[in-house]
Parts: sequence; structure tokens; C-alpha cells
Amino acid sequence: MSSHHPLVIGNWKMNPATSAEAKALFLAVRKKVKRDAPVSVVVAPPFPFIPDLSRLSPGGRLPLAAQDVFYEDAGAYTGEVSGSMLASLGVSYVIIGHSERRALGETDAQVNKKILACLRRKLTAVVCIGERERDLRGDFFSVVEGQLRALCTGLSARQLAAVVIAYEPIWAIGTGKTATPEDVKEMQLFITSVLVKLYDRALGKRMRIIYGGSVKPDNAAALHEAGGMQGFLVGGASLKADDFGAIITSVIS
Ligand code: 13P
Repeated sequence: MSSHHPLVIGNWKMNPATSAEAKALFLAVRKKVKRDAPVSVVVAPPFPFIPDLSRLSPGGRLPLAAQDVFYEDAGAYTGEVSGSMLASLGVSYVIIGHSERRALGETDAQVNKKILACLRRKLTAVVCIGERERDLRGDFFSVVEGQLRALCTGLSARQLAAVVIAYEPIWAIGTGKTATPEDVKEMQLFITSVLVKLYDRALGKRMRIIYGGSVKPDNAAALHEAGGMQGFLVGGASLKADDFGAIITSVIS
């Protein structure tokens, strides 16, 4: 089991509409993060709000994540944002390979290159994996294993240990359908077993794996206690400071 505090990341996706609203939400969330509480809380706003929010977070009490990064450091790549740009703005985490980005065409190979870009800039990559649907035969395990193998390509155990894996079954994202704590536990054991196969037991124990998919105040405690993962990647509920605060509290045991 990882020795880190639980990690709770709020993925704001393409919300809110204005910088003023983003600042208000950030300050409301920051109030929910008690100094010295045994939990790491991170928010992932859209790119344009990062500079303003970074100024509101001196000392990194509420660190920032970006929702994507490009894998090249500079050059003729219209519309893209590099790891060095994010690092220069005080960003410390980057969500990579979210299913909503994969649905727009992001490939496993690009996800792997983006992880390497994060490692070069000492940004913590939070890499999303998860099946589109479940089937009775358990074929979804091979989908998850395929994504895991692809993201690990060319990474040493030391490099992978700096990465966070977010298991987000697509069928549970924004649908109100959550994986049960038993499903989450089973997947935590499965992901760990694949990592042990690819690397070793020490790495399997060290890796941080978090769960995302309709995490809400009323299911967070059960998912955390019985799910065995090291935190949550929260979408919709992270846009309401009270709900997000309740989820944060539920992982502090
Ligand atoms: P919801 O919590 O809205 O289901 O979103 C999960 C997610 O995609 C977080 O990255």
C-alpha cells in the first residue's frame, strides 16, 4: 500500500464559464482544506484560469492540475500547451488520457509520450484508464490491462512510481452509476497484479491508484473504505465546494 496521504482531485472539465467564477470556487474549496489534514487535495481548472488561481494558492496549499499537456516542449504546434509552460505557472499535476480526451482521438501512444513530458518537467501525471462497458465474461479486464501496458511502455519502475493511475470506468462518468466498492477493490487488486507482473511487488505496493466515476458525498466513504484505492478523481461534485468538501472529509480516517 502506498505511504502517501489519500489524493482527491477535482476535475472541473470545461467549467465554470468565467475567471471570476473560477476564483470564487477555488477560494470556497480552499476553505475546505484544513492545514495539516492527512489528505492531498488538488483542483484541475481549464487552462485559461490557471494563472489567476496559481496566484491564489501561495505555498501550494491547494495545488493545481492541468487537464492535459502536449508532449513536445516547444515549436509549431498551434493550440497546444507544453509541460514547461505549465510548470512555469506553478502547476504540479497533469491529468492525462481522460476518456473524454481519448474520445476526441487521443491514443495510448500519445498518452505514453505525455507521461514522459510530465516526468521531464517534474509534473505528476495522473493517467486515466478504464473500460467503456462491463461484460459478464470479464473482457473489460483485458481492456484495462492493455491501457496499463501501453502507458508503462519504456518507463522504468522509478519513473512509474511518480505517476498516479486513475481508474475511471467510462460507464460511471457523469452517469450517476458508480462502481460498487467491491468492483473498485477488485480493480485495485487487478491493476496492482498487472504492475507486479510488469515490474515487481515493491512497485505494485508503492503505486498510487485512485478511483473516478460519479463519486458523490453519499458514496465516497464506502468507496474509500472498501475500495482500497488511494483517493478520488471527482468531476461533477468538485464544482460544488460543499460536496467536494464532504468527499475530502470522507477519505480522512
Ligand atoms: P463525474 O464525477 O462527474 O462522474 O466525473 C468523473 C470524471 O470524469 C473525473 O475525471
